[in-house]
Amino acid sequence: MNIILLGPPGAGKGTQARRLVEARGMQQLSTGDMLREARSSGTEMGKRVADVMDRGELVTDEIVIGLIEEKLTHDHPPGGFIFDGFPRTLPQADALGELLTKHGQQVDAVIEMQVDDEALVTRIAGRATCAGCGEVYNDTLRPIPADGACGKCGGTEFKRRADDNEESLRQRLMEYYKKTSPLVGYYYAKGQLHRVDGLAEIDAVSGAIAKVLDKV
Ligand code: AP5
Repeated sequence: MNIILLGPPGAGKGTQARRLVEARGMQQLSTGDMLREARSSGTEMGKRVADVMDRGELVTDEIVIGLIEEKLTHDHPPGGFIFDGFPRTLPQADALGELLTKHGQQVDAVIEMQVDDEALVTRIAGRATCAGCGEVYNDTLRPIPADGACGKCGGTEFKRRADDNEESLRQRLMEYYKKTSPLVGYYYAKGQLHRVDGLAEIDAVSGAIAKVLDKV
């Protein structure tokens, strides 16, 4: 099963994708994570995208489609792919459909995580990610355990993202509403759209997603 998690920055796509990986043996494909990896490894492409990401703008379709194409060609997870943060534009959505068809696959469900813009600021401003395993925490909503160690892997180093500041978040939201939100209509028209309340507690969101996937 291949699914897309759709929602603005901070909607909880990464948090839920990690849970689906554990629960269903799926593979998370986060273009944001791939770009951050390229950036920290200092590749030419990484250098080119760093400023764009820090400003909260979208990286070119060509670059992200290339990253996804490589994964679809080489990886064959038994549980399928979770697309997290991709597609983000209509050309990316068309390209994903074509790539999956080429590999004899399809998009099985698109989950729109509906949230309130106000909540996103608190979520993003307080986010911390375990440097060891990528588990996502939040200063107020899901704090790092009191002993300072990640509840998943025991790591004690946590990272904050360069684009997790108010100015960049504003731009990321603008990009979402201008370029990504039309995908809601696109996938609705294809009969693939499902909506869940992304403002609910993390477990409740996971439950709502599971309910959708069990019916697909
Ligand atoms: P990317 O890394 O994809 O960032 P994003 O879409 O802005 O989404 P986030 O990772 O910020 O949020 P999330 O929805 O995963 O939320 P999370 O689970 O962490 O992209 C970064 C940049 O890369 C882009 O700006 C762009 O430049 C570039 N890029 C990436 N893909 C691209 C593409 N396809 N095309 C072009 N450019 C691209 O949760 C957030 C916080 O909330 C956490 O602290 C978490 O603990 C908390 N939380 C989560 N769920 C809940 C809940 N239910 N209740 C309470 N708290 C919760």
